[in-house]
Amino acid sequence: MYLTREEERILDGECGWANQTCMKILVRLGELFNGRRLIPISTAHVSGISYKTLGDAPIEFLRALADANGKVKVKTTLNPQGLDPEYLAKRLPNNLCQKQLDILEQFERMGSTPSLTCTPYHLEKPDRGSHLAWAESSAVVYANSVLGAWTNREGGPSALAAAIVGKTPDYGMHRAANRQPSILVNIEAELQNETDFGALGIHLGKLLRDKVPAIQGLQKTSKDSLKQLSAAIATTGMANMFHCGTCPREKKMEEITVEDKDVRRAIDELSTAPSKKPDLVFIGCPHCSVDEMKQVAKLARGKKVKPGTEFWVCTSNHVREAAGDCVREIEKSGGHVLAGVCTVVSWTEKLGIQTIMTNSAKTAYYAPNLSKAETILSPMKECLKAALQG
Ligand code: F3S
Repeated sequence: MYLTREEERILDGECGWANQTCMKILVRLGELFNGRRLIPISTAHVSGISYKTLGDAPIEFLRALADANGKVKVKTTLNPQGLDPEYLAKRLPNNLCQKQLDILEQFERMGSTPSLTCTPYHLEKPDRGSHLAWAESSAVVYANSVLGAWTNREGGPSALAAAIVGKTPDYGMHRAANRQPSILVNIEAELQNETDFGALGIHLGKLLRDKVPAIQGLQKTSKDSLKQLSAAIATTGMANMFHCGTCPREKKMEEITVEDKDVRRAIDELSTAPSKKPDLVFIGCPHCSVDEMKQVAKLARGKKVKPGTEFWVCTSNHVREAAGDCVREIEKSGGHVLAGVCTVVSWTEKLGIQTIMTNSAKTAYYAPNLSKAETILSPMKECLKAALQG
């Protein structure tokens, strides 16, 4: 891979251990995936922030980078942590809270923005055509497909390395040729709500593997529905973007069709306990937008959370502040608007939660393994009916 004189100096350790280590990570990745050079990025987004998913060993690596004066060169946002400081921190063991604080401190020492969200685009939308190094798979697919930015699906370490160097190798989704569709998907299913879009993503992710699809026939495509589709495609497959609407067919492409039965099957498979009473009703995977906060608040108005049920709405601090009236409405009903966290990366099993109802196909997919919970996957309206009474 071609390196400039300045990049070679960093690789040789002339700019310190932290920069050298990060440059080594990027050069190794570039060599593995046939990168030709490093290109500047406008932002980075780092995952693996929750102590639950990170574990102990990487904390020492983060501390070593911060001790060696590793500093991010571009705006660097962070994925959700394992608890929020108000509600969950009081209910979870103190040692988990301390470890979580330690992780956040290391990222802050390196100059990251403690956004703690998987929807960094709600905070600041990247420019079309800008190159990013983002590590949250749902945000990667959304950024490439909906926002028109260019990013590979980074891992936590490579996103942090790119943030510290301010560059990333130019392979994969950073090249125009790799962003062209290679498979045509005809949607014949009627997608009626956000959960159907998520189920479509789960179904497609398995079929597409890493192919870029041109999806035709999507109706009612709100940004929030596309957010569910993005999250779910990335959950079961390696596709990093999709095209939707009418796409020029420059070459003959493989074609697949999705019917109602495919979407229904995906929903059924993700509902492991459809007739159980949920311990937790959860909205906010990926983190809620202001529009979604409005929808939840409207459905919660004048109602009360049922006894024996937890009701969580997860979002970023940024959206929580922007949707203050909605937050008050939801909290009046007895629900909790939790900022900077989500059920999947928190320790719901330690709170005795065994059945989770959600409108998110991604959460329903991960909950049996990561949260040791049974699942009910239903649209937001149904979730709120199960959570609230009156
Ligand atoms: Fe975000 Fe947690 Fe879902 S990080 S995408 S809310 S699993």
